[in-house]
Amino acid sequence: MEPPDIQPADGRLGVLLPGLGAVATTVVAGVEAVRQGLALPVGSLSQMNTIRLGKRTEARTPLIRELVDLASLEHLVFGAWDPIPDNAFESAVAAGVLDRPRHLDPISEFLESIEPMPAVFDSAYVKRLDGPNKKRGGSKMDLAEAVREDIRRFKEANDCARVVMVWCGSTEIFLRSGPAHADAAAFEEALRRSDPAIAPSMIYAYAAVMEGVPYANGAPNLSADVPALEQLAGDRQVPIAGKDFKTGQTLMKTILAPGLKARMLGIRGWFSTNILGNRDGEVLDDPDSFRTKEESKLGVLDYILQPDMYPELYGDIFHKVRINYYPPRGDDKEGWDNLDVYGWLGYPMQIKVDFLCKDSILAAPIVLDLVLFLDLASRAGLGGIQEWLSFYFKSPHCPEGLYPEHDLFIQQWKLKNTLRWLAGEEQVTHLGREYYE
Ligand SMILES: NC(=O)c1ccc[n+]([C@@H]2O[C@H](COP(=O)([O-])OP(=O)(O)OC[C@H]3O[C@@H](n4cnc5c(N)ncnc54)[C@H](O)[C@@H]3O)[C@@H](O)[C@H]2O)c1
Repeated sequence: MEPPDIQPADGRLGVLLPGLGAVATTVVAGVEAVRQGLALPVGSLSQMNTIRLGKRTEARTPLIRELVDLASLEHLVFGAWDPIPDNAFESAVAAGVLDRPRHLDPISEFLESIEPMPAVFDSAYVKRLDGPNKKRGGSKMDLAEAVREDIRRFKEANDCARVVMVWCGSTEIFLRSGPAHADAAAFEEALRRSDPAIAPSMIYAYAAVMEGVPYANGAPNLSADVPALEQLAGDRQVPIAGKDFKTGQTLMKTILAPGLKARMLGIRGWFSTNILGNRDGEVLDDPDSFRTKEESKLGVLDYILQPDMYPELYGDIFHKVRINYYPPRGDDKEGWDNLDVYGWLGYPMQIKVDFLCKDSILAAPIVLDLVLFLDLASRAGLGGIQEWLSFYFKSPHCPEGLYPEHDLFIQQWKLKNTLRWLAGEEQVTHLGREYYE
């Protein structure tokens, strides 16, 4: 398949974030710290990873950002919406992720300049939260028009050539895709009558797609993952991706599970529990928001282990996921996993994982990579679902009838082969017969 023509990454790239909380401020402050040479963008493939090209004997391994034309960090301009009116400095201090004297005070002026625009927010969809900085009145279609207007205004005021949007807002209550989301006409009609099936995150996603702005969803709520928005994104050649950033415990799960399966070791039980004390943890303390997260976290093992194909090894796994809100921990989450596994002749063994992680530190480089890769996809004319970005998500968005790929290593391979294809380079298959002929 011929690679597409890619428009150059000239000009400034606007990054619009619904939600200016822990993750968003960690990525915004982090990018500025990197720009000022105060820190390294650890965890970001777009900034630090190399990519092998051609045969192993050719020794061609450029950085990814040397292979494909990505927007430079210098060209990123940030904006956000949040019902809580705190600017990015106040919000970052409240989130308590980054060290204030080392990483926030030196860039306080820059952070203070980022004030959230009034949000499309309804506490019916995020029950543990409220704030005064909201758009008021009118139908949901009027709210979508207001977000579209915000995007246009931001783009013009900041002299941006292009804009990308990444949902860093709270996890909304559990909703299923239904008739209101079936196609573009039904969705627009539902917006006009302010149907409760349309959550705020869908309004942002719709506004982004209508403005030709690539959209990624970092939370597990549906947002763009409904047929209507897939259709609109496809028709308008706007890249979309989701859902739910793959960070702490699920990152570990998608590293461990493919390894155990590769060795054909059996699994009887996988118990995962978390304590976390940030605002995200408080929102997830609400059963309706937790249900959205739980669905996202539980799906992973089934797809990786394929119990239908291996009923003796994975047909009867007891898989449990708990999230407990525990304020003393703040953003320093602790995720415990207990795996009951078995080997040769069914002999049992146990694996214990205790990951003391910083959630937003793991999420920030994901946001940065998504911004740069979605912008690349857009300049390459790739519209609709970007499955090659599954690497970054707990519940990869893929078309109906296709199962999502959860295995981190297959996801990484897919990501890198897509980049090779975009750059007109050969795919790496790892067959390697040529070295012995
Ligand atoms: N590692 C991670 O931190 C991680 C991993 C996966 C997913 N996520 C998801 O990313 C999202 C952000 O996480 P966080 O830790 O920054 O949470 P946070 O609570 O610190 O920030 C979320 C912000 O979104 C705002 N918000 C809620 N609804 C909004 C709306 N309709 N419009 C605009 N703003 C809105 C809130 O006021 C809040 O400031 C959450 O949904 C979380 O589940 C985070």
